Amino acid sequence: MNSETLVVDPSTSATHNYRLLIGCIVPRPIAFVSTISSNGAYNLAPFSFFNAVCSEPPLITFATGHRVPPKDTLANVRATGEFVVNIVSEEIAEKMNLCSGEYPGGVSEFEISGLTPVASDLVRAPRVLESRINMECRVLQILDLSTRPMGGSLVIGEVLRFHLDAAIVTNLRIDPEKLRAVGRMGANEYTRTRDRFQMIRPQV
Ligand SMILES: Cc1cc2nc3c(=O)[nH]c(=O)nc-3n(C[C@H](O)[C@H](O)[C@H](O)COP(=O)(O)O)c2cc1C
Repeated sequence: MNSETLVVDPSTSATHNYRLLIGCIVPRPIAFVSTISSNGAYNLAPFSFFNAVCSEPPLITFATGHRVPPKDTLANVRATGEFVVNIVSEEIAEKMNLCSGEYPGGVSEFEISGLTPVASDLVRAPRVLESRINMECRVLQILDLSTRPMGGSLVIGEVLRFHLDAAIVTNLRIDPEKLRAVGRMGANEYTRTRDRFQMIRPQV
């Protein structure tokens, strides 16, 4: 690198840290998380602090920002120990965005977005019919990382069942061209997954 280096001390501003993290770590996959509350209300919200962390058992993780009271997703996951991660393709990206509004309790993001809840096989949380991939999950652990402003909690879940649209799968390989997943960049930007290239790993 020939250009000047900017050095940032993360102890100065949580807002700056957030801005840097969401700009540095790109693109981020999006967990579109459906849950059910202890009194049976469905909830649906996107989280881009999301990834796979283990294959055996299959574990995935997402993080919710700290709020008092907590975000509905975290409250529901704590209360029921279950959730579903739905993958966001281009065709439902705008509906996913509608679900990210911080609506008052009692407002259903399924109704707001027009997305369809369907029963899961193993958990009470519903799946999103329009998602080409749903992962039914049971909570393994919730780590409350920080209760400072802009702190958060990390939810780790075990995938109990995958639901895959057969049209996008060959030999259990998911065709990214057909999945057309979207990723989140910084601010309000998103990316498509249409521009890909291959590299073969060195055989050592
Ligand atoms: C693409 C996208 C990604 C998001 N990622 C996160 C995230 O990783 N963590 C978080 O706390 N909020 C995230 N949000 C904001 C939540 O979706 C928003 O706070 C939502 O209202 C939470 O809903 P809930 O209270 O029903 O759980 C994201 C929003 C969008 C649009």
